[in-house]
Amino acid sequence: MARIAVIGSFVMDNVARMQKFPAAGETVSGESIARFPGGKGANQCVAAARLGGDAIMCGMLGRDSDGEAFREILRAEGISDEYVFSCDLPTAVAQVQVDGSGQNRICVIPSANYAFGQREIERIDGVLKGAELAVFQFELRPEVTRELIVRAKSYGTKVLLNPAPAAKPERELFGRVDYLTPNERELSALTGLPTETEEEVTAAAKALLACGVGAVVATLGARGALVADKHGCEMIAGYAVKAVDTVAAGDSFNGALAVALSEGRTLREAVRFANATGALTVQRAGAIPSLPRREEVEAFIAARS
Ligand code: RIB
Repeated sequence: MARIAVIGSFVMDNVARMQKFPAAGETVSGESIARFPGGKGANQCVAAARLGGDAIMCGMLGRDSDGEAFREILRAEGISDEYVFSCDLPTAVAQVQVDGSGQNRICVIPSANYAFGQREIERIDGVLKGAELAVFQFELRPEVTRELIVRAKSYGTKVLLNPAPAAKPERELFGRVDYLTPNERELSALTGLPTETEEEVTAAAKALLACGVGAVVATLGARGALVADKHGCEMIAGYAVKAVDTVAAGDSFNGALAVALSEGRTLREAVRFANATGALTVQRAGAIPSLPRREEVEAFIAARS
């Protein structure tokens, strides 16, 4: 099976549930607070592993109890931690708010994730060379992610970039990205274009293709995802489900996309599989605890066909 290397973040999420997000200066009563393991990199890697992908994680943890908890999770999921390094900064944490409709707001304190630097880039060079697909997000230092993408591409490894949280990298990076997976907000940040309507999303995706991106998969929540590549633009419908917690929905989508592509499925087939994975994820609380296994996704697709 083709190897998927996920290079990215670990974050311990502190999740407060409330009916309505507080406005600036407002205090609201919440319903619960809980800690869940997350981080876009870790979420995507665990998602891929649970779906049967040959996934390996590269990242940075603190030498603390959260770091140990993440190593234990990787062991339980059968993911090697050989390229998960430790530093003296604390493992990253996030403050997450989830409202009554399952929508989220997140603030991440990067801590150990930002200690992943040049030394670690050199140490994972062989991983980048050996992988079929390398998966990145924007939760490591921007210059680190940039160099890793440049290296991966120079080795002929396919690059999947989930440009989250929203940022605007230098234009020349786009030509090195095979699959770019922004949500509407990130798509707008990348292009400077509006992304309110499907027509606007299509125009923004086409603008990225013109910059050299191989394929754009714009994730549009419950509506599904818009695929734009050399074959044209197509909306792949999502699944209507009741969302409890949307945290890690995009990550499970990306993990699923990586697995389906690594199995040789077409991009459109891979997006259908990823839509189903995301639909299952939003029905459960937490980041890593909400990620479904392969059998569940296949049963869900069969039940909805
Ligand atoms: O994408 C969701 C993730 O973003 C959360 O788990 C949080 O840790 C942030 O990194």
